[in-house]
Amino acid sequence: MTIRPLNIDPTHCFIANEWVPALSGQTLALKNPSDGTTLCDIARGNAADIDRAVAAADAALEGAWGELAAFERGRILHRIGELVLENIDELTTLESMDVGKPVKQARADVVALARYMEFYAGAVDKIHGATIPFLEGYTVYTMREPHGVTGHIIPWNYPMQIIGRSVGAALAMGNAAVLKPAEEACLTALAFAEICRQAGLPDGALNVVSGLGAEAGAALTAHPFVHHISFTGSVGVGKLIQSTSAQNAVPVTLELGGKSPQLVFDDADLDAALPFLVNAGIQNAGQTCSASSRILVQRGVYNDVVARMAKRYGELRVGPAGDDLDVGPLVSLRQKEIVEGFLARGADLNKVAVGAVAPDAPIGGAYVPPTLFADVDPNHELAQQEIFGPVQVVIPFDTEEDAVKIANGTDFGLVASIWSKDGARQMRLAKRLRAGQVFINNYGAGGGVELPFGGVGLSGHGREKGFEALYGFSTLKTVAAHHG
Ligand code: NAI
Ligand code: MG
Repeated sequence: MTIRPLNIDPTHCFIANEWVPALSGQTLALKNPSDGTTLCDIARGNAADIDRAVAAADAALEGAWGELAAFERGRILHRIGELVLENIDELTTLESMDVGKPVKQARADVVALARYMEFYAGAVDKIHGATIPFLEGYTVYTMREPHGVTGHIIPWNYPMQIIGRSVGAALAMGNAAVLKPAEEACLTALAFAEICRQAGLPDGALNVVSGLGAEAGAALTAHPFVHHISFTGSVGVGKLIQSTSAQNAVPVTLELGGKSPQLVFDDADLDAALPFLVNAGIQNAGQTCSASSRILVQRGVYNDVVARMAKRYGELRVGPAGDDLDVGPLVSLRQKEIVEGFLARGADLNKVAVGAVAPDAPIGGAYVPPTLFADVDPNHELAQQEIFGPVQVVIPFDTEEDAVKIANGTDFGLVASIWSKDGARQMRLAKRLRAGQVFINNYGAGGGVELPFGGVGLSGHGREKGFEALYGFSTLKTVAAHHG
């Protein structure tokens, strides 16, 4: 397979602006989750390829990339954003096939990737240090500097969006990046690399090594010349990455998903809430770090909300990504197995509605019908663990106090939302909810590239997106000059 019109052979890694096979010559099969067929082979990079990529990044910092002024980096990012949009059809098709994402959702991710490039292109020359009043005879100031080589280990659920928010911000601040995309979906990471090359990004500023987590990913994390790691993925691997990075005393940003609640109060505008209540659980087949998998509803509107959500679930259609229905397949048969395990363990729960898989959906596809449970005990596994599939639980509550307790009663804390017309309650809850983002009378704010994002607790730490990411992807130097 060749990725058209960019002309890329996906069995290659991207190092120092060149396409090279993995040194071992090994490849992995990339599956199409809509039908289980093999899409193409990808390079199975390992420690040796990571070594080359890190060396290329290091050379970039010492060379042409390191010499650019902030506004010059911004110009390149701007050009990358333009080329992303010029290639929107191809990127949409690649992401849709590779992830199993319905076409409209994949297209929105391309636009988001371009938006990240535009945002960071415009932001990069507005970042500056401070002068600090100090003792007589001194002038003290701070400046923001890149960490150096940044490692980016990303998952398969939103490759383009996560590249945008992490690689975009890292490049803006003048780091040189090594990207390890997920073995389940990496075609748009490769396409993005080629777009960067065509946009004039200097050699080595971005390098992409595909491969397995335990091989290429582990090697990147442990590499002594990598100065920052940004990881999005599972809690288990996140903990492993943090402990490995600790050996080199390297900072990490971890974004590990969640169990994000929406709180629906008796006074909520249910017509406004309903589309968000369901979409936030089934978008990308529920494989979204900020998916809303818990719907907490006050007793007065409980039956109404359950009935309305059930009706919507009954209308949901599931099928191949290319058919652009409400829900596509999960990313892999393995992910389907994980989700089916949760559904089996929830067999005794009150299952109120199930969406329909299209009868002609290919047998080999990773399809799981969207499933809605009601009256779920907040301590049940399905109300506590990240399922990462199209499954939501509805939980009743009586008082605001109860709602806060249930909402904060998991190990996670990524996002939360409040549906209520009571302004005082909105302010109280926005303070009390344990989450990195709180939405009032909406959910997700359309993705908002401008809005700092990240979690507390097992959802991780560090912030990406918005200006905040530019601080995370840089380090602060204080200069104290004594001049008498
Ligand atoms: P994962 O955490 O294993 O994979 C994410 C990335 O980490 C991939 O690029 C993978 O190659 C890499 N990786 C795996 N092991 C590694 C290691 N030892 N060292 C360095 N990198 C490594 O996630 P997986 O297995 O794909 O999904 C399992 C569960 O994780 C999902 O069911 C979901 O609950 C959660 N998850 C959360 C995501 C989020 O957006 N926060 C994204 C993907 C998964
Ligand atoms: Mg894994």
